[in-house]
Amino acid sequence: MIKESLQTAINEQIVREMYSSNLYLSMAAYYASINLNGFANWMRIQAEEEMIHALKFFDYVLDRGGKVNIGMITATPSVWAGYIQPFADALEHEQKITAWINDIADIAHTEKDYATMSFLNWFIDEQVEEEKTTGEILDRLRLAGDSKSSLFLLDNELKARKIEVATKAE
Ligand code: FEO
Repeated sequence: MIKESLQTAINEQIVREMYSSNLYLSMAAYYASINLNGFANWMRIQAEEEMIHALKFFDYVLDRGGKVNIGMITATPSVWAGYIQPFADALEHEQKITAWINDIADIAHTEKDYATMSFLNWFIDEQVEEEKTTGEILDRLRLAGDSKSSLFLLDNELKARKIEVATKAE
């Protein structure tokens, strides 16, 4: 049985992952509205991955005999000041997600819940990837500056992204 403190923290994280999914879906809609369809594709897949993250936490609470409690998901922004801004916001958001996952790991450590510590390792590794990938795209967008050809090249590259993660932690 999972400890109350961890159950509460993970339930909060489920809501954050669902918010992340909505945030990236909203960014996908924004990019589609300005015909940057590669960026829209990348964000849409990111949204799907975030829902999978939420489901991994959801399954874990149930697997440990806990109770899932899904709280309110606040509304996301829907407009951005230009095509670089969503990636700047996404990086900042991922840094917050990393900090929250570290906070849950701290609780698991304090509670000596080794199963949760092991479960969280997947997310700890995933956050390294998430920050790296988002940061790289942001850097490339900034480097492109006013060059439309660099922007369209990157947009074209991001069209190729496909969903990669499994629906359950292995
Ligand atoms: Fe599920 Fe992007 O953190």
